[in-house]
Amino acid sequence: MDGTDKYLLSFKDYYFIRSLIDIDALENLEDFEIRDDDVFIITFPKSGTIWAQQILCLIYFEGHRNKTENVETALRVPFMEYNLHKLDFSKRPSPRILSSHIPYYLAPKGLKDKKAKIVYIYRNPKDVLISYYHFSNLAVAFQPSENLEQFMERFLDGKVMGSHWFDHIRGWYEHKHDFNILFMKYEDMKKDLRSSVLKLCSFLEKELSEKDLDAVVRQSTFQNMKSDPLANYDYFLKDLVGTRTNDGCFLRKGTVGDWKHHLTVEQNERFDRIFQRNMKDFPLEFTWDINEE
Ligand code: A3P
Repeated sequence: MDGTDKYLLSFKDYYFIRSLIDIDALENLEDFEIRDDDVFIITFPKSGTIWAQQILCLIYFEGHRNKTENVETALRVPFMEYNLHKLDFSKRPSPRILSSHIPYYLAPKGLKDKKAKIVYIYRNPKDVLISYYHFSNLAVAFQPSENLEQFMERFLDGKVMGSHWFDHIRGWYEHKHDFNILFMKYEDMKKDLRSSVLKLCSFLEKELSEKDLDAVVRQSTFQNMKSDPLANYDYFLKDLVGTRTNDGCFLRKGTVGDWKHHLTVEQNERFDRIFQRNMKDFPLEFTWDINEE
Protein backbone atom coordinates (compact mmCIF):
# COMPACT_ATOMS: atom_id res chain seq x y z
CA MET A 1 0.00 0.00 0.00
CA ASP A 2 1.69 3.24 -1.13
CA GLY A 3 -1.00 5.72 -0.11
CA THR A 4 -2.43 5.87 -3.63
CA ASP A 5 -5.86 4.72 -2.46
CA LYS A 6 -6.15 7.65 -0.11
CA TYR A 7 -5.95 10.02 -3.07
CA LEU A 8 -7.23 8.05 -6.04
CA LEU A 9 -10.49 6.34 -6.77
CA SER A 10 -10.51 3.65 -9.42
CA PHE A 11 -13.64 3.48 -11.55
CA LYS A 12 -13.75 1.20 -14.61
CA ASP A 13 -9.94 0.96 -14.64
CA TYR A 14 -9.40 4.68 -14.56
CA TYR A 15 -8.19 6.89 -11.71
CA PHE A 16 -10.11 9.91 -10.44
CA ILE A 17 -9.26 12.17 -7.51
CA ARG A 18 -11.12 10.62 -4.60
CA SER A 19 -11.83 13.78 -2.60
CA LEU A 20 -13.13 15.76 -5.60
CA ILE A 21 -15.17 13.24 -7.52
CA ASP A 22 -18.91 12.79 -7.24
CA ILE A 23 -19.54 9.06 -7.45
CA ASP A 24 -23.16 9.57 -8.60
CA ALA A 25 -21.90 11.67 -11.50
CA LEU A 26 -19.53 8.85 -12.43
CA GLU A 27 -22.24 6.22 -12.37
CA ASN A 28 -24.32 8.37 -14.72
CA LEU A 29 -21.59 9.54 -17.09
CA GLU A 30 -22.74 7.32 -19.91
CA ASP A 31 -26.17 8.94 -19.88
CA PHE A 32 -24.96 12.52 -19.41
CA GLU A 33 -27.23 14.35 -21.84
CA ILE A 34 -25.36 15.83 -24.77
CA ARG A 35 -26.65 18.75 -26.83
CA ASP A 36 -25.72 19.20 -30.46
CA ASP A 37 -23.97 22.48 -29.75
CA ASP A 38 -21.97 21.29 -26.72
CA VAL A 39 -18.22 21.73 -26.88
CA PHE A 40 -15.89 19.57 -24.80
CA ILE A 41 -12.26 20.21 -23.95
CA ILE A 42 -10.70 16.83 -23.26
CA THR A 43 -7.17 16.39 -21.99
CA PHE A 44 -4.82 14.30 -19.97
CA PRO A 45 -4.08 16.45 -16.87
CA LYS A 46 -1.34 19.10 -17.23
CA SER A 47 -1.58 19.31 -21.00
CA GLY A 48 -2.99 22.82 -21.22
CA THR A 49 -6.62 22.35 -20.17
CA ILE A 50 -6.83 25.72 -18.45
CA TRP A 51 -5.34 27.38 -21.53
CA ALA A 52 -7.94 25.88 -23.84
CA GLN A 53 -10.63 26.82 -21.33
CA GLN A 54 -9.52 30.44 -21.44
CA ILE A 55 -9.33 30.52 -25.24
CA LEU A 56 -12.77 28.99 -25.69
CA CYS A 57 -14.28 31.32 -23.07
CA LEU A 58 -12.84 34.26 -24.94
CA ILE A 59 -14.15 32.97 -28.26
CA TYR A 60 -17.66 32.28 -26.97
CA PHE A 61 -18.36 34.90 -24.29
CA GLU A 62 -18.25 38.55 -25.21
CA GLY A 63 -18.37 39.54 -21.55
CA HIS A 64 -15.20 37.54 -20.98
CA ARG A 65 -13.48 39.12 -23.95
CA ASN A 66 -14.29 42.73 -23.09
CA LYS A 67 -13.97 42.09 -19.34
CA THR A 68 -17.47 43.31 -18.50
CA GLU A 69 -18.26 40.08 -16.62
CA ASN A 70 -16.39 38.85 -13.60
CA VAL A 71 -16.78 35.08 -13.89
CA GLU A 72 -14.01 32.62 -13.12
CA THR A 73 -13.02 30.22 -15.87
CA ALA A 74 -13.83 27.16 -13.76
CA LEU A 75 -17.47 28.28 -13.72
CA ARG A 76 -17.67 29.09 -17.41
CA VAL A 77 -16.09 25.83 -18.52
CA PRO A 78 -16.84 23.43 -15.68
CA PHE A 79 -15.57 19.89 -15.45
CA MET A 80 -18.19 17.29 -16.22
CA GLU A 81 -16.92 14.66 -13.77
CA TYR A 82 -15.61 17.02 -11.08
CA ASN A 83 -18.69 19.09 -10.41
CA LEU A 84 -17.21 21.08 -7.55
CA HIS A 85 -19.66 23.94 -7.90
CA LYS A 86 -22.63 21.55 -7.85
CA LEU A 87 -23.99 22.96 -11.09
CA ASP A 88 -27.15 21.69 -12.69
CA PHE A 89 -25.77 21.02 -16.18
CA SER A 90 -29.23 20.50 -17.64
CA LYS A 91 -30.15 24.10 -16.82
CA ARG A 92 -27.08 25.71 -18.33
CA PRO A 93 -27.69 27.83 -21.41
CA SER A 94 -26.37 26.69 -24.78
CA PRO A 95 -23.77 26.50 -26.03
CA ARG A 96 -22.28 24.72 -23.05
CA ILE A 97 -18.51 24.38 -22.88
CA LEU A 98 -17.38 21.55 -20.65
CA SER A 99 -14.04 20.11 -19.64
CA SER A 100 -13.07 16.56 -18.90
CA HIS A 101 -10.15 14.22 -18.32
CA ILE A 102 -12.10 11.03 -19.03
CA PRO A 103 -10.74 8.28 -21.28
CA TYR A 104 -12.59 7.69 -24.57
CA TYR A 105 -14.42 4.65 -23.24
CA LEU A 106 -16.16 6.60 -20.47
CA ALA A 107 -17.52 9.23 -22.87
CA PRO A 108 -21.27 9.87 -22.67
CA LYS A 109 -22.92 7.94 -25.47
CA GLY A 110 -24.43 11.13 -26.90
CA LEU A 111 -20.94 12.31 -27.86
CA LYS A 112 -20.76 9.51 -30.37
CA ASP A 113 -23.46 11.01 -32.57
CA LYS A 114 -20.65 13.35 -33.68
CA LYS A 115 -22.68 16.52 -33.35
CA ALA A 116 -21.12 17.95 -30.22
CA LYS A 117 -17.52 18.98 -30.74
CA ILE A 118 -14.44 17.85 -28.84
CA VAL A 119 -11.14 19.69 -28.66
CA TYR A 120 -8.38 17.35 -27.45
CA ILE A 121 -5.19 19.11 -26.32
CA TYR A 122 -2.01 17.05 -26.11
CA ARG A 123 1.49 17.90 -24.94
CA ASN A 124 4.81 16.09 -24.96
CA PRO A 125 4.63 13.73 -22.00
CA LYS A 126 7.98 14.71 -20.47
CA ASP A 127 6.69 18.24 -19.91
CA VAL A 128 3.39 16.78 -18.71
CA LEU A 129 5.36 14.71 -16.20
CA ILE A 130 7.27 17.72 -14.84
CA SER A 131 4.19 19.91 -14.70
CA TYR A 132 2.24 17.15 -12.96
CA TYR A 133 5.02 16.53 -10.43
CA HIS A 134 4.96 20.16 -9.31
CA PHE A 135 1.19 20.36 -9.32
CA SER A 136 0.77 17.18 -7.25
CA ASN A 137 3.07 18.61 -4.61
CA LEU A 138 1.09 21.84 -4.58
CA ALA A 139 -2.58 20.81 -4.54
CA VAL A 140 -3.68 19.02 -1.35
CA ALA A 141 -6.14 16.72 -3.11
CA PHE A 142 -3.21 15.13 -4.97
CA GLN A 143 -0.64 12.70 -3.62
CA PRO A 144 2.67 14.49 -2.99
CA SER A 145 5.98 12.87 -3.95
CA GLU A 146 9.28 13.03 -2.13
CA ASN A 147 11.18 13.51 -5.36
CA LEU A 148 10.79 13.37 -9.11
CA GLU A 149 11.91 9.74 -9.25
CA GLN A 150 9.02 8.69 -7.04
CA PHE A 151 6.54 10.69 -9.10
CA MET A 152 7.96 9.39 -12.36
CA GLU A 153 7.34 5.83 -11.21
CA ARG A 154 3.75 6.66 -10.33
CA PHE A 155 3.26 8.44 -13.64
CA LEU A 156 4.67 5.57 -15.70
CA ASP A 157 2.64 3.05 -13.66
CA GLY A 158 -0.48 5.09 -14.38
CA LYS A 159 -1.06 5.66 -10.66
CA VAL A 160 -2.15 9.27 -11.08
CA MET A 161 -5.43 10.97 -11.88
CA GLY A 162 -5.85 10.22 -15.58
CA SER A 163 -4.14 6.80 -15.29
CA HIS A 164 -1.69 6.02 -18.13
CA TRP A 165 -0.83 8.96 -20.34
CA PHE A 166 -0.13 6.51 -23.21
CA ASP A 167 -3.57 4.89 -22.97
CA HIS A 168 -5.36 8.24 -22.76
CA ILE A 169 -3.99 9.73 -25.97
CA ARG A 170 -3.96 6.43 -27.83
CA GLY A 171 -7.54 5.71 -26.85
CA TRP A 172 -8.89 9.04 -28.03
CA TYR A 173 -6.81 9.06 -31.18
CA GLU A 174 -7.58 5.52 -32.23
CA HIS A 175 -11.32 6.13 -31.71
CA LYS A 176 -11.34 9.56 -33.33
CA HIS A 177 -13.73 8.40 -36.03
CA ASP A 178 -16.40 7.85 -33.40
CA PHE A 179 -16.30 11.52 -32.43
CA ASN A 180 -16.24 15.02 -33.89
CA ILE A 181 -12.81 15.75 -32.52
CA LEU A 182 -9.95 18.15 -33.21
CA PHE A 183 -6.46 17.35 -31.90
CA MET A 184 -4.43 20.40 -30.93
CA LYS A 185 -0.80 20.31 -29.86
CA TYR A 186 0.21 22.44 -26.87
CA GLU A 187 3.56 23.22 -28.47
CA ASP A 188 1.88 24.49 -31.66
CA MET A 189 -0.25 26.80 -29.55
CA LYS A 190 2.91 28.02 -27.89
CA LYS A 191 4.65 28.55 -31.23
CA ASP A 192 1.85 30.39 -32.95
CA LEU A 193 -1.09 31.25 -30.75
CA ARG A 194 -2.91 33.32 -33.35
CA SER A 195 -2.93 30.50 -35.93
CA SER A 196 -4.04 28.08 -33.24
CA VAL A 197 -6.94 30.31 -32.26
CA LEU A 198 -7.93 30.59 -35.93
CA LYS A 199 -7.81 26.81 -36.28
CA LEU A 200 -10.02 26.46 -33.22
CA CYS A 201 -12.47 29.08 -34.57
CA SER A 202 -12.69 27.24 -37.85
CA PHE A 203 -13.44 23.92 -36.14
CA LEU A 204 -15.97 25.59 -33.83
CA GLU A 205 -17.54 27.47 -36.76
CA LYS A 206 -17.05 30.79 -35.00
CA GLU A 207 -16.12 33.84 -37.00
CA LEU A 208 -14.41 36.63 -35.07
CA SER A 209 -13.54 40.14 -36.21
CA GLU A 210 -9.84 41.03 -36.31
CA LYS A 211 -10.35 43.12 -33.18
CA ASP A 212 -11.96 40.24 -31.30
CA LEU A 213 -9.32 37.83 -32.52
CA ASP A 214 -6.65 40.20 -31.20
CA ALA A 215 -8.38 40.29 -27.83
CA VAL A 216 -8.56 36.48 -27.65
CA VAL A 217 -4.87 36.11 -28.45
CA ARG A 218 -3.79 38.90 -26.10
CA GLN A 219 -5.78 37.61 -23.15
CA SER A 220 -4.70 34.02 -23.54
CA THR A 221 -0.95 34.56 -23.41
CA PHE A 222 0.80 32.98 -20.43
CA GLN A 223 1.67 36.30 -18.79
CA ASN A 224 -1.81 37.73 -19.10
CA MET A 225 -3.44 34.59 -17.78
CA LYS A 226 -1.01 34.29 -14.90
CA SER A 227 -1.70 37.81 -13.71
CA ASP A 228 -5.48 37.44 -13.99
CA PRO A 229 -6.81 35.62 -10.88
CA LEU A 230 -9.93 34.50 -12.78
CA ALA A 231 -7.86 32.87 -15.53
CA ASN A 232 -5.25 31.48 -13.13
CA TYR A 233 -7.81 29.40 -11.21
CA ASP A 234 -6.89 31.23 -8.00
CA TYR A 235 -10.18 30.66 -6.23
CA PHE A 236 -10.49 27.09 -7.47
CA LEU A 237 -7.00 26.09 -6.38
CA LYS A 238 -6.59 28.01 -3.14
CA ASP A 239 -10.14 27.98 -1.74
CA LEU A 240 -11.81 24.96 -3.28
CA VAL A 241 -9.01 22.42 -3.61
CA GLY A 242 -6.39 23.87 -1.24
CA THR A 243 -2.63 24.27 -1.62
CA ARG A 244 0.30 23.04 0.47
CA THR A 245 2.28 26.26 0.02
CA ASN A 246 1.28 29.86 -0.55
CA ASP A 247 3.58 30.65 -3.40
CA GLY A 248 2.42 28.21 -6.08
CA CYS A 249 -0.21 28.84 -8.68
CA PHE A 250 -1.89 26.96 -11.52
CA LEU A 251 0.13 28.62 -14.25
CA ARG A 252 3.69 27.63 -13.35
CA LYS A 253 6.12 28.08 -16.26
CA GLY A 254 4.20 27.43 -19.45
CA THR A 255 7.25 26.48 -21.51
CA VAL A 256 8.32 23.74 -23.89
CA GLY A 257 11.25 21.53 -22.85
CA ASP A 258 11.26 22.26 -19.13
CA TRP A 259 11.89 18.52 -18.62
CA LYS A 260 15.51 19.14 -19.64
CA HIS A 261 16.03 21.02 -16.39
CA HIS A 262 14.68 18.18 -14.29
CA LEU A 263 15.27 14.71 -15.74
CA THR A 264 18.65 13.01 -15.23
CA VAL A 265 20.24 11.35 -18.25
CA GLU A 266 19.21 7.96 -16.87
CA GLN A 267 15.61 9.04 -16.23
CA ASN A 268 15.40 10.54 -19.69
CA GLU A 269 16.68 7.36 -21.34
CA ARG A 270 14.29 5.23 -19.32
CA PHE A 271 11.42 7.49 -20.29
CA ASP A 272 12.44 7.25 -23.96
CA ARG A 273 12.50 3.45 -23.83
CA ILE A 274 9.03 3.30 -22.32
CA PHE A 275 7.76 5.91 -24.75
CA GLN A 276 9.09 3.94 -27.74
CA ARG A 277 7.52 0.75 -26.46
CA ASN A 278 4.11 2.31 -25.93
CA MET A 279 3.92 4.73 -28.83
CA LYS A 280 5.40 2.67 -31.63
CA ASP A 281 3.47 3.34 -34.86
CA PHE A 282 1.50 6.16 -33.26
CA PRO A 283 0.92 8.78 -35.98
CA LEU A 284 0.79 12.02 -33.97
CA GLU A 285 4.11 13.76 -33.63
CA PHE A 286 5.39 15.31 -30.43
CA THR A 287 7.52 18.39 -29.94
CA TRP A 288 10.05 17.93 -27.16
CA ASP A 289 11.89 21.19 -27.50
CA ILE A 290 10.84 24.58 -28.86
CA ASN A 291 14.04 24.79 -30.93
CA GLU A 292 13.26 21.55 -32.68
CA GLU A 293 11.85 22.91 -35.91
P1 A3P B 1 3.50 24.09 -16.49
O1 A3P B 1 3.30 23.45 -15.16
O2 A3P B 1 4.55 23.40 -17.30
O3 A3P B 1 3.76 25.56 -16.38
P2 A3P B 1 -3.63 21.88 -17.19
O4 A3P B 1 -4.50 23.08 -17.28
O5 A3P B 1 -4.01 20.80 -18.14
O6 A3P B 1 -3.49 21.42 -15.78
O7 A3P B 1 -2.18 22.33 -17.70
C1 A3P B 1 -1.41 23.23 -16.94
C2 A3P B 1 -0.15 23.55 -17.72
O8 A3P B 1 -0.47 24.38 -18.84
C3 A3P B 1 0.86 24.31 -16.86
O9 A3P B 1 2.16 23.91 -17.32
C4 A3P B 1 0.51 25.74 -17.24
O10 A3P B 1 1.49 26.69 -16.94
C5 A3P B 1 0.30 25.58 -18.74
N1 A3P B 1 -0.42 26.74 -19.31
C6 A3P B 1 -1.60 27.24 -18.91
N2 A3P B 1 -1.90 28.35 -19.62
C7 A3P B 1 -0.89 28.55 -20.49
C8 A3P B 1 -0.60 29.54 -21.48
N3 A3P B 1 -1.41 30.57 -21.71
N4 A3P B 1 0.54 29.41 -22.19
C9 A3P B 1 1.39 28.39 -21.98
N5 A3P B 1 1.18 27.43 -21.03
C10 A3P B 1 0.06 27.50 -20.31
